Amino acid sequence: MELQADHSLYKLIVEASPNGLLLVDERGAIVMANPCLLAQFGYQEAELLGQLVEVLLPKPAQAIHRAHRIGYMQDPQARPMGRGRELYGLRKDGTEFPVEIGLTPLRVSGRTYVLASVVDITERRRLEEQLRRTERIAELGTLASGMAHEIGTPMNVILGRAEYLLERVTEEPIKKSLQVIVTQVERITRVMNQLLAFARRRPVERRPLDLRETIEGSLEMFQERMARHGIRIEKSFQDDCPKVHADADQMSQVLINLVMNAIQAMPEGGMLRVALARADGMVRLTVADTGHGIAQQDLPKIFDPFFTTKETGKGTGLGLTVVKGIIDEHGGSIQVESDSGKGTTFTISLPVSQ
Ligand SMILES: Nc1ncnc2c1ncn2[C@@H]1O[C@H](COP(=O)(O)OP(=O)(O)OP(=O)(O)O)[C@@H](O)[C@H]1O
Ligand SMILES: [Mg+2]
Repeated sequence: MELQADHSLYKLIVEASPNGLLLVDERGAIVMANPCLLAQFGYQEAELLGQLVEVLLPKPAQAIHRAHRIGYMQDPQARPMGRGRELYGLRKDGTEFPVEIGLTPLRVSGRTYVLASVVDITERRRLEEQLRRTERIAELGTLASGMAHEIGTPMNVILGRAEYLLERVTEEPIKKSLQVIVTQVERITRVMNQLLAFARRRPVERRPLDLRETIEGSLEMFQERMARHGIRIEKSFQDDCPKVHADADQMSQVLINLVMNAIQAMPEGGMLRVALARADGMVRLTVADTGHGIAQQDLPKIFDPFFTTKETGKGTGLGLTVVKGIIDEHGGSIQVESDSGKGTTFTISLPVSQ
C-alpha cells in the first residue's frame, strides 16, 4: 500500500471511530479532534485546535489536570485516566457529562503526543442507576410481603374488636368513632393487599376470565377516594362480550394502575369511563378520564421504566411499565390517546378465551 493511500485510510479510521479521539501535544494543546469528539463536546474543529485540553474539563478539574498533565509528560504511559475517580467532560454549552478516558502516548519524529480516547458513559450510568433502583424495588417487594403479614394479623384483631364494640354500644358519638376506626383499618388492609399484589411472585395462571368482575373489583377499591374527589364513574359493558384468556391477579393490577393514574389526573374531579366490548376478534377494554392529559412530548415515554411526572416519592414511574409488560405477555396490545387539558384514553386489546 502506498504511503499516501495508507495515510488516508488511517484518517478515515480515525474519523469513523465511534469513540472521541483527541491528540494533545506536550504543552497540552489540542492538535487533532475527530468528528465523534467534536459531537460529544459540541465544538467545531477550528474552535478546538490550538486550545489547551483543559477547555474540555469542568472548572474545578482544570487546575488539577494541568498539574497531572505536566507530571504525565515526564513519564508518559498508556493508562486509563483518573483511576477510581469519576470523570466529567465539559461541553461548549457549559453542560457536563460522565466520561471514561484512555491515554496513550505517541512518539512521532522526536516529539511526544498523547492520544486520549473519550467514551461518553451517560447511557451506561443511566442503566446502572436503573438497575440499582430495580434492585431496591425488588427488595422493597420482599419487605412489603413480610410487613403485610406482620401488620395484617394485628389489624384483624383491631378490626374484630372494633366491630364487636360497634354492635354493643348505643351512644352515637362512640359508634361514630368506632366506625372511623373500622373504615381506616379497612383502608390499611386494602393498601397492604395492593402492596402484596405487587410483591407477589407466584406463577401466572391464565384461565377464561370475565373482565367485568375484575373491573368491578378494582373500582370498588377506589370508590371512597373517587367520591371524595368528585369523580363520577360510567361503566359500559357490551352484553355478549366474551371472556378473555388471562391471569386474574395481573388483570387487577392492570386496572388498578390505570384507574389510579386516572384518579391522580383528576384532582378537581371529572369522569372516569370504563368500557368493555368485542372488537376485531379481541376484547377491547377502554379506560378514559377527563383529567389533565399527557403532554405530546411525554407520550412516547410513559411506558418507560421510571418515567414519571409526579413528585419524588409520589410516583415510581413503574405503573404503566408493569401494565404494558402484562398486556404484552398476554399477547395483547395497549394504546394511548391524550389531549393536554382534555383527558386520556387507554385502549387495551386482549385475546378472547377459546
Ligand atoms: N391517565 C393519565 N392522565 C395523565 N397522565 C398520565 C395518565 N396515566 C399516566 N400518565 C403519565 O404517565 C406517567 C407514567 O405513569 P406510570 O403509571 O407509569 O407512573 P406514575 O403514575 O408516575 O407512578 P406510579 O404508577 O408508581 O404511581 C405519569 O407520571 C403521568 O405523567
Ligand atoms: Mg401510575
